Amino acid sequence: MIDLHTHILPSVDDGAKDLSESLEIGREAMRQGVTKIVTTPHYLEGEYELSFKELQDRVVALQEEFDREGIEIELLTGSEVYLTADLAKKAKDGKLTTINGTKYLLIEFSMRSMPSYVDDVLYDLNALGYKPIIAHPERYFEIMEDPNILYNWVEGGVLAQLNGGSLLGQFGTKVKETAEILVEHNLVQLIGSDLHSNRYRKECLEESYKALEGLIGDRHKKFLVNTENVVEGKDVEVNPILYKIKSGVFGRFKKALGF
Ligand SMILES: [Fe+2]
Repeated sequence: MIDLHTHILPSVDDGAKDLSESLEIGREAMRQGVTKIVTTPHYLEGEYELSFKELQDRVVALQEEFDREGIEIELLTGSEVYLTADLAKKAKDGKLTTINGTKYLLIEFSMRSMPSYVDDVLYDLNALGYKPIIAHPERYFEIMEDPNILYNWVEGGVLAQLNGGSLLGQFGTKVKETAEILVEHNLVQLIGSDLHSNRYRKECLEESYKALEGLIGDRHKKFLVNTENVVEGKDVEVNPILYKIKSGVFGRFKKALGF
């Protein structure tokens, strides 16, 4: 398994606080069968702004510690970029760290209030050749109320990454229900832990994939393939999005026949 979204690098953001916690996370991830971890510290101007080179140095340093400790996990560079109106310019200026040097860029924005310029920024990034991945869509208030927002993005070539913990109820009932709706309608293609520590928000991919399998059976394997393709910079084939209907918050989508 590959964990696509983690805050495992020590002392760079609100994730692992020190090296010993990063090592604990690594040991637990290895126990669960994780073989690669993309390190995705927050990138937010004025708060977390490490350059690619600085991140790469930290990844190399942590990899050396993993190797020394016998933690058989390959660490890859990445970041979780906070969406701002000028994000396309930042991308052009080479300020953003993509997933493992590919064109895939993990993006988050405010959970409570979606900026009006999200569509424009995603469009501009696409036009520049980037492939945006929306982190944890199931946690955004607007998407919980209207999953159609995500429908339009995915149709436009954007990918979406579910937090495994959402399926496990870590963020409450409504987030869990939204996560299930998004999975059942092919509106998410990737899963990651978004781990921040080895305590509350810890590695959970083993359990998450089991939950995913419980929900969609063998189709859960597509998530494994998709994640591999992302870290290798290959295209991700998106399953057809299932039909949406207009009325009711959780009745917005109808299942296609044969699903
Ligand atoms: Fe995150």
